[in-house]
Amino acid sequence: MKTYFKTQILATPYEAANKLAMDLIRYTEHMIQYRERLYIALSGGTTPQLMFEIIAKEYPTALPWKQLHFFWVDERCVLADDPENNYGNAHRILFSKVAIPTENIHPIHGGEDPLTEVVRYSGEILAHVPCTKNLPVFDLVLLGMGNDGHTASIFPGQPGLFETTAICSISQHPQTCQKRITLTGKVINNAAEIIFLVTGKTKAEKVKEIMNEENDASLYPAKQVKPTNGILSWYLDNESATNVDLK
Ligand code: 6PG
Repeated sequence: MKTYFKTQILATPYEAANKLAMDLIRYTEHMIQYRERLYIALSGGTTPQLMFEIIAKEYPTALPWKQLHFFWVDERCVLADDPENNYGNAHRILFSKVAIPTENIHPIHGGEDPLTEVVRYSGEILAHVPCTKNLPVFDLVLLGMGNDGHTASIFPGQPGLFETTAICSISQHPQTCQKRITLTGKVINNAAEIIFLVTGKTKAEKVKEIMNEENDASLYPAKQVKPTNGILSWYLDNESATNVDLK
């Protein structure tokens, strides 16, 4: 399968975010020749916000917004207007600035009761995203990684979130105890394209252990991201890839 994404190290966070934005544009341009809709799941945290800013400022009309449906990989259980809310940030930085139909945006309702929302959001995903073996197949899942090696809202010590056949689940941040709703590992690994955008020196240790297959790496949820049929790629910057040699 031709892919528009590949693991690479760019000099700065800006260049990594910009390169991913450009590859995303080329990928969607190609895919919409064959597909009526594409289903993309976005991560939260701060790293993707730079890419959102670049798309809104540099490429606001370059993506086929009418054919793109956006979901979230995870959400913090806070209201949309809370600065911690992933959907709220993506809307403020990107979606409020481009011509995307409202019905194409499928946020997790972080302010609702988490148990009820997990059921509702699983239904929302099943109502839109095509499935194989009862598991949704996102066309593209964008992931980040925490300094502790967590990804989505799957933290070290939560292996069950890669074993469960549930579509999404409640999770909890081990330090802040903040409740989260997250796609599960099986759904993430079922995607056609899985892309990590990871920048900055605080991530270098875990990136090294994961990319160099060092012992403890298997303890990190980010290392458990292994596409079932799809393709995995990492967009890194020089700082996060300090001890990585892609050759
Ligand atoms: C979230 C994310 C999470 C994020 C990492 C990295 O909601 O927090 O989905 O998995 O990708 O925590 O966060 P930063 O990009 O802020 O370093």
